[in-house]
Amino acid sequence: MYRTDGNPNMYRIAPSILSADFARLGEEVQSVIAAGADMVHFDVMDNHYVPNLTIGPMVCEAIRPLTKAVIDVHLMVKPVDRIIPDFARAGANIISFHPEASDHVDRTIGLIKECGCKAGMVFNPATPLSWLDYTLDKLDLVLIMSVNPGFGGQKFIPAALGKLRAVRERIQKSGREVWLEVDGGVKVDNIAEIAHAGADTFVAGTAIFGTKDYKATITAMRTELSKTRS
Ligand code: DX5
Ligand code: ZN
Repeated sequence: MYRTDGNPNMYRIAPSILSADFARLGEEVQSVIAAGADMVHFDVMDNHYVPNLTIGPMVCEAIRPLTKAVIDVHLMVKPVDRIIPDFARAGANIISFHPEASDHVDRTIGLIKECGCKAGMVFNPATPLSWLDYTLDKLDLVLIMSVNPGFGGQKFIPAALGKLRAVRERIQKSGREVWLEVDGGVKVDNIAEIAHAGADTFVAGTAIFGTKDYKATITAMRTELSKTRS
């Protein structure tokens, strides 16, 4: 369904605004969407669960009127439940969380859905996929971290490829439509290999915002994706 059949439109590119110019955030969001991005990846860090501090629901609310694109909120916060309704009210479409940051994972998934958002679970490089055993039937998205969370600009960890393949297999077995997202170190020169491993949704921060011409970069990513064959 979402995958390696060579059609680049089956894939979603989600620029991480962590690497945008925060002094011109609204403009940056509009620029990447105009440049062909499918959604906005919104990294929330609390200087507790991860060693960095970023943006919260007020910033999400401020950018919401600027785009119709999906806002994909990646919560790197602990505790996690308290902030979920605030992001839903601020206009988030997808809310993903790390299972280690929740005391009651099933309750957290339920809360995200009750708030009217799609629910995603995030796997750090060393987080086992067994967290999917009793949750995959409720999830809309699985996010595989290909770096340790906290910072943009890190190097892609190749072990993420095997993990993507394993999750793609589980999604296929489930028969459900679950997006498989990858986050960290995604570039023009590795995106095809990552897609081949099963990802359909690609977060890219520095690879996009670190370039001058966002459209050229996103187009180059789509060209690479179009080369992918199953
Ligand atoms: C890391 C964040 C990522 C980050 C990716 O904790 O979740 O979304 O912005 O940045 P790049 O694409 O530069 O690795
Ligand atoms: Zn992220």
